[in-house]
Amino acid sequence: MDNVAAIVLAAGAGTRLKSKKPKVAHEILGKPLVNWVIDAANGAGIGKIVTVVGHKSEQVLPLVKDVCEIAEQPEQLGTAHAVQCALESEAMRGFSGSVVILSGDCPLVSPETISQLAQARVQQGAAAVVLTMRLENPFGYGRIIREGFGSKKESPVAQDVVRIVEQKDATPEEAQVCECNSGFYCFDAESLADALKQIGSDNAQGEFYLTDAMEVLRTEGKRTIALESDDPRECLGVNSRKQLAEATRIKQMQINDALMDAGVTMIAPELVWCGPDVEIGRDVTLYPNVTLIGDVKIGEDSTLLPSTMLKNTHVGEGCRIGPNTRLYDTNVGVGCVVDETVSYEAQLDDGATAGPRAYLRPGAHLCENAKAGTHVEIKKSTVGRGSKVPHLSYVGDATIGEGVNLGAGTITCNYDGKNKHATTIGDNTFIGSDTMMVAPVNVGSNVVVGAGSVITKDIPDDALAVARAREKIYEGWVPAHGK
Ligand code: UD1
Ligand code: CA
Repeated sequence: MDNVAAIVLAAGAGTRLKSKKPKVAHEILGKPLVNWVIDAANGAGIGKIVTVVGHKSEQVLPLVKDVCEIAEQPEQLGTAHAVQCALESEAMRGFSGSVVILSGDCPLVSPETISQLAQARVQQGAAAVVLTMRLENPFGYGRIIREGFGSKKESPVAQDVVRIVEQKDATPEEAQVCECNSGFYCFDAESLADALKQIGSDNAQGEFYLTDAMEVLRTEGKRTIALESDDPRECLGVNSRKQLAEATRIKQMQINDALMDAGVTMIAPELVWCGPDVEIGRDVTLYPNVTLIGDVKIGEDSTLLPSTMLKNTHVGEGCRIGPNTRLYDTNVGVGCVVDETVSYEAQLDDGATAGPRAYLRPGAHLCENAKAGTHVEIKKSTVGRGSKVPHLSYVGDATIGEGVNLGAGTITCNYDGKNKHATTIGDNTFIGSDTMMVAPVNVGSNVVVGAGSVITKDIPDDALAVARAREKIYEGWVPAHGK
């Protein structure tokens, strides 16, 4: 792919999506449309990729600025104008060779097709080649008018392309044509620059259409040809929410097929959504309603139960991730059990368990074999090796040593209404149920705290602390029944 540059058109508004967000920033499986296209161009081995931004470029630039060069289209006057802006940009200055044009709203294009497009132009000595597809319902796409159009019902495939006519400008006969413009082209750079100068905006939309370049070049006696795609799905343009859903479904199945081929079991692949960067080991089973988005890694032999959502998460081998679990930016070690848990920015070391119904907040760290049990909330705290917080607890700003047991209902009172304070608990300490630890407070190692205590003073190692009202017994106080 020497001497090939790609221009990705991504400056349009996408009015048909009825969105505040620019079209190309909408996502499929966690990746913006425009990035799918740029990645495909990269995959084809194209060294120079220039993306044209314009409409709400402040939302598009952050997505693309680190992965390609940028050209600005200050006003969206049409696809021909967008390409012109790219050719006049710093990035394309002095370039000669092949220019591949890609639509930023066609996310399903494959690297292979991009390469074929570039090869076809050179091999067939054409000034331009357009990728086309035949659709049962071509409505909305530009139609390919081949040589000999009108003389026979169907345009003969072998003929060169005379022009491309947009839906809104098509005569009823032209609208019958089912061969459509995919919006992907390869041009000879010089011919392209020359054609753009001659394109006007005298059409139904008052725009400068890139599609008109075909007719201009042909009139000049240059060859303009078509390459017909063998998989029309890869040309799907996302102009509406329905097409966004359709493209998502196609990508979802492509990714799932590849994962299944690599040894992953899916009970119902149509109910599993994996992003493009997900890595899953062999013999992993994904149950229905599993969503894995972002930088997710799952080791061998893991099981992901229903209604699970993982985002930017690493999961080690042999884990069981339970139903109704959402993990964001979380690291899960080897052999963990995570059940009905919500976690943000937490760390679970090997063998740790969370849930059912645990809430791990930023800075929660469950060390090896530690447990955050049912209805337990942990924030910015370390639970030491083998320590357990099994039931109904809140632990915030705490450092808990190894082998500690926090009885049911134990709470760190870390907030005095103004500031947060720390609690420390030493190794092998046993905290009785329903204890309040009023921070700042330090509890030593090997301590026993009586149930129901309110701990406000530091406790030294090896001590028993009881801080509650004494039980009083009034014998015979209750009158006997019937007396
Ligand atoms: C375009 C083609 C149509 C083809 C279809 C395939 C033209 C005139 N029509 O129609 O023949 O069948 O794609 O999907 O080219 N853009 C800019 N600047 C602009 C206008 C558009 O960057 O001024 C970008 C858009 O962001 C989009 C791409 O160009 O990524 C295509 O524009 P869009 O308006 O979606 O064109 P279609 O109507 O789909
Ligand atoms: Ca489009």
